[in-house]
Amino acid sequence: MKILIIGGTNFIGPEVVHRLHTMGHEIAVFHRGKTVAELPIGVEEIKSDRTQLPEMKSELQRLSPDVVLDMFAYTEQDALTIMKSFKGIAQRVVAISSMDVYRAYNVLLGKESEIVPVPLTEDSPLRQQLYPFKDMPQRALNAPADYDKILVERVVMSDTDLPGTVIRLPMVYGPKDPLHRLFPYLKRMDENRPAILLPENFAQWRGCYGYVENVAHAIALAVTNPQATGRIYHVADLQVSEIERLSYFGKAAGWQGEVISVPKRYLPAGWNLPFNTKQDWLVDTTRIRQELGYSEVVSQAEALTQTINWERSNPLLEMPQWTGLELLDYVTEDEILSRLSYSQI
Ligand SMILES: NC(=O)c1ccc[n+]([C@@H]2O[C@H](COP(=O)([O-])OP(=O)(O)OC[C@H]3O[C@@H](n4cnc5c(N)ncnc54)[C@H](OP(=O)(O)O)[C@@H]3O)[C@@H](O)[C@H]2O)c1
Repeated sequence: MKILIIGGTNFIGPEVVHRLHTMGHEIAVFHRGKTVAELPIGVEEIKSDRTQLPEMKSELQRLSPDVVLDMFAYTEQDALTIMKSFKGIAQRVVAISSMDVYRAYNVLLGKESEIVPVPLTEDSPLRQQLYPFKDMPQRALNAPADYDKILVERVVMSDTDLPGTVIRLPMVYGPKDPLHRLFPYLKRMDENRPAILLPENFAQWRGCYGYVENVAHAIALAVTNPQATGRIYHVADLQVSEIERLSYFGKAAGWQGEVISVPKRYLPAGWNLPFNTKQDWLVDTTRIRQELGYSEVVSQAEALTQTINWERSNPLLEMPQWTGLELLDYVTEDEILSRLSYSQI
């Protein structure tokens, strides 16, 4: 099968490229050339901006992909450009979306109030407001103000001439994670902190995560299986409370400390987590398992070990701005710890 991947050279993309290439497919990747990845021999690279696609008809006809995998559509316009450019050329478009399309995400952000039951299925209610990052002062991964995967999905799934498939991703972790999701915790572990403190409500909160190789496997199945036409899928492989997740992580890192759930009265006055943690963010992954035969290709223990090894070899020099919201500084943490131990005497 001929597959054109829009993107494919940053974090999740290279894993997808390798997987599809190993399956014997003919792959081309289309990106600007700002990120560099080690791609398998034989993978063609086309360097241009995706906004130029409508002017590249003859090049796209030469490529004549069976499936276009859009790894990186952020806006409605991104999706419209893809559909317009590949109509009459490709048989199907697969778009990578996110669990942030759900109303539950807006409840988590405090923008909507009624708690949505979990696990979310692919038919659970979507956000009632568009553009979830519009008012955020710091947008992860430079997402534009008009970022909205709901609009991307709507465009990709509503074209009668060019059918689509959507895969909604959880929070993805693993080597090359540009968000370094585990770094703030690993730093504490490697600096031999005796404890990692989580506010009680966050400790019990349950979110959905996926290891990059497992996520790439799910994407490869959706790209290559025609049964995925017109379907929306979830994928996730780690769905536990934060205290459990970080305890697994500490064990894999060889850390001797303890993850502690801290009652609100021990936290500094005015310190508030900016999330409604009464809303869990768990998803049902039955559909992709039953319809496409998905199962994890990497065990949880191996996934954590690989992530830790990479984070240790690629440490961040400073704490990322977007994260650490749930953590305090060491001085404050020590004060809380001593008050907690005093209260137990
Ligand atoms: N990471 C998570 O936790 C998470 C969670 C939910 C959903 N997602 C979704 O997962 C997807 C994958 O992200 P990823 O970074 O891992 O994908 P990726 O395919 O590995 O990297 C993004 C690619 O897009 C290319 N690109 C960016 N802007 C471009 C432009 N204007 N024209 C052409 N190419 C462009 C980049 O290459 P150049 O820079 O060289 O152009 C790069 O190849 C995204 O859609 C994201 O929303 C991720």
